[in-house]
Amino acid sequence: MTAMKMTVLIVDDDAASRQLLRQILKDIYNLSFATDGINALAKVQKVRPDLILLDILMPEMDGYETCQRLKAIPATADIPIIFISTLSDITEKVKAFKGGGVDYISKPFQSEEVLARVETHLKLYNFQRFLERRVEEEVNNRRVEEQMLIQQSKMAAMGEMINAISHQWKQPLNSLGLIVQCVEDEFEYGEVDKKYVKDFVKQTMELILFMSQTIDAFRNLLKPSRIKYTFDVTEAVYELVNLFSDMLKKDDICIRINTPQTCCISSIGYPNELKQVILNLINNSRDAINSRRKKGIITEDGLITIDIKEGENRKVVASISDNGGGIDPMVLDNLFKPYVTTKGDEGTGIGLYMSKAIIEGKMDGKISVSNIEGGAQFVIELPLANEGV
Ligand SMILES: Nc1ncnc2c1ncn2[C@@H]1O[C@H](COP(=O)(O)OP(=O)(O)OP(=O)(O)O)[C@@H](O)[C@H]1O
Ligand SMILES: [Mg+2]
Repeated sequence: MTAMKMTVLIVDDDAASRQLLRQILKDIYNLSFATDGINALAKVQKVRPDLILLDILMPEMDGYETCQRLKAIPATADIPIIFISTLSDITEKVKAFKGGGVDYISKPFQSEEVLARVETHLKLYNFQRFLERRVEEEVNNRRVEEQMLIQQSKMAAMGEMINAISHQWKQPLNSLGLIVQCVEDEFEYGEVDKKYVKDFVKQTMELILFMSQTIDAFRNLLKPSRIKYTFDVTEAVYELVNLFSDMLKKDDICIRINTPQTCCISSIGYPNELKQVILNLINNSRDAINSRRKKGIITEDGLITIDIKEGENRKVVASISDNGGGIDPMVLDNLFKPYVTTKGDEGTGIGLYMSKAIIEGKMDGKISVSNIEGGAQFVIELPLANEGV
C-alpha cells in the first residue's frame, strides 16, 4: 500500500520561483500553484492543501493579507503556511510569524532547506491533527460511557421502584380480592342491598385511591428536578423512607430517622436527586445487612439510622449508618469510582459513583464514608439555605 501523497500549494507571482520549487518538491508531494493572493484563496478551497508556501511580495494581495484571510476562515485556519521571500531583514521575519506563518524560507532557495522545512511542518501538522482526533475520540467515548452509566443507574432505580410498588400493592390487592369474592356469597344469601353496595364502593375506592397515589409518588420520585430550589432535607428524607419502608420491613430492617424537632433544615438543590442518593445508600445498607445475615454473622435486627442536623459552617449534615458489618477494606479507597462492586453479577458498582456525581457535581456538597462499630457510615454535607431570604 502506498501512502497518500500530501498536497502543497505554491503561491508565487514569479514563474522562475514556481518552477524551481516544482523541481525540488515534485517527487514527494502533489503540487498545486497560484500566481497571486486572490488566486490562492480560490485554489485553497478547491485543492485543500496540507501546507502552503506563500510568497510575501505579490501584486494585488500580498502574502500577509492572504495569510490573514486564510486564518480567518475556520476551514483553512489550521493549514500551516511557510512564507517565502527575498526579504531577509529581521522585522519582515517577525511580521511573518506574527501574521500566522509557521516558518520562513529565503530566496534563493536551497533545495535541502526547502525539503527539510516542508517535511518538518507537514509532520508537525499531521501529528497535531492526530492528537486532535484522539482527543475528540476520547471525549466522545467518555460521553457515551457517561450516558451508559446514567442509563444503567436509571434502570436500577426503576427496578427498585417496581419492587417497592409491588410490596406496597400486595396488601391492598389482597384486600380487593377478598372484598370482590365476598360479593358473590353475600348475593346468594340475599344480603346485597343498597347499603351493601355503597359500602362496597367506598371500601374498594379507598384501596384503589391508595394504589394510584403510590404510583404517583413513585413517578414523582423518578422525575429529575430541572432547577435548584430551597427544600426541607428532613421532609425529603421522610418522603423517600415512607415509600420504601414496606419493602425493608420484609427484610426485617428498620429505618430510624433522627432530626432536631425544632425547625426544618433547608438546603438548596435538587430534592429528587437527593432522594435517589439516599435510596442508593439505603439499598447498599440493606444488601450489607442481608449478606451478613446469610452468612449467619448477625442475628439482631437490621438497623439503618439517618441523622439529619445542622453542621458547622452553614452546612446540612445527613449521615446514614447501618449495622451491616462495614465496607470491605479492599474497596474502601475506590468506593466512589464506577464499576467498583463486591456483589459480583448482583451489583453494577455505579450506585455510589452516581451518588457522588449528584452530591458533589450538581449540589455543591460532599459525600464521604467510613467504617464505624458494626457497620458503615456515609456522611452527606449540603449547603444550608438562608432562612427567610
Ligand atoms: N453500607 C455498606 N456496607 C457495606 N459495604 C458497602 C456499603 N455501601 C457500599 N458498600 C460497598 O461498596 C460497593 C460499591 O457500592 P455501589 O452502590 O457503588 O455499587 P453496588 O451496590 O455494588 O452496585 P449498584 O450499582 O447496584 O449499586 C458495594 O459493592 C459494597 O461492597
Ligand atoms: Mg449500590
